[in-house]
Amino acid sequence: MDKSGRNGRKGGVSHPVFAYMYSRFAPGAERLGAAHHRDELLSGISGRVLEVGAGSGLNFRHYGDAVTGVLAVEPEPHMRAMAIRASIDVPVKVLVVGGMDSRLPVADAVFDAVVASLMLCSVPDQRVALAEMYRVLKPGGELRFYEHVQAQERVLASIQRAVDTFWPYFGAGCHTSRDTLRAIEESGFEVTSLHRFRFQPCLMCAPVSPHITGVALKRLSG
Ligand SMILES: C[S@@+](CC[C@H](N)C(=O)[O-])C[C@H]1O[C@@H](n2cnc3c(N)ncnc32)[C@H](O)[C@@H]1O
Repeated sequence: MDKSGRNGRKGGVSHPVFAYMYSRFAPGAERLGAAHHRDELLSGISGRVLEVGAGSGLNFRHYGDAVTGVLAVEPEPHMRAMAIRASIDVPVKVLVVGGMDSRLPVADAVFDAVVASLMLCSVPDQRVALAEMYRVLKPGGELRFYEHVQAQERVLASIQRAVDTFWPYFGAGCHTSRDTLRAIEESGFEVTSLHRFRFQPCLMCAPVSPHITGVALKRLSG
C-alpha cells in the first residue's frame, strides 16, 4: 500500500483492518457526537442524493423524507458490505455500489445533492474528487460536507503536518492537515453555510479534532 491508501487494485481499495477498526470505533464516536453532526449535515436535504465514500453507511438513517433516493458509492469491499447491510433497515431507498471518487459511475448534472462525509481526507487528490462531485450535481445543487480539516491554530497545524508523515499509512490514506474548505472553494463551489467545531471522541483523535460541516452550491452558470 502507498501513502494515498491505494494497494494496487484496479478501480478500488482494500483496507480490511481499517474497515474492522472503523466498525468497532464508530458506535462510540456516534454516541459522543458524530450522530448529531450527521443530523446537522443532512438537515433539509432533498431530492436525488449521491453519497461518495459512504463507508459502512452511518449516514443512511439520518436521511429525511424529502430524499427520493440515495446512490451510495463505496470502493472498499468490507465497508461496502456493511453499507449494504445498513441500507436494508432505513426508511429512504439506498442503493450501494462500488466506485471511486475520481470516476463516479453516473452521468453529468443528475443529482440534487452530493454528500462527502469524512472522506475528503482520504482521497488521493481532493481537486479530482471535487471536480467529479461538481460534474454530477445539477446547477444550483448542493455539496453537503462533514470533514476533519487543517487546524486554524498554528501549533496544532504543525503537529498535523508532522503526523501526516505516518498517519495515512495506518488510516487507510487519511490525512490530518488538509485545507478542505479551501479545496471546496477553489473547485468552483459557493460555500453558503459553514460550521467550524472541535470534536475529539478519543485521546488519539487530537490531530483530527478540527471539523467543518456545511453546504456549498454548484453555481447556476459557469
Ligand atoms: C473514514 S471513512 C468515512 C466513511 C463514511 N463516509 C462516514 O461518514 O462514516 C472514509 C471512507 O472513504 C472511502 N474512500 C477512500 N478513498 C476513496 C476514494 N478514492 N473514492 C471514494 N471513496 C473513498 C473509504 O473507503 C471509506 O469508506
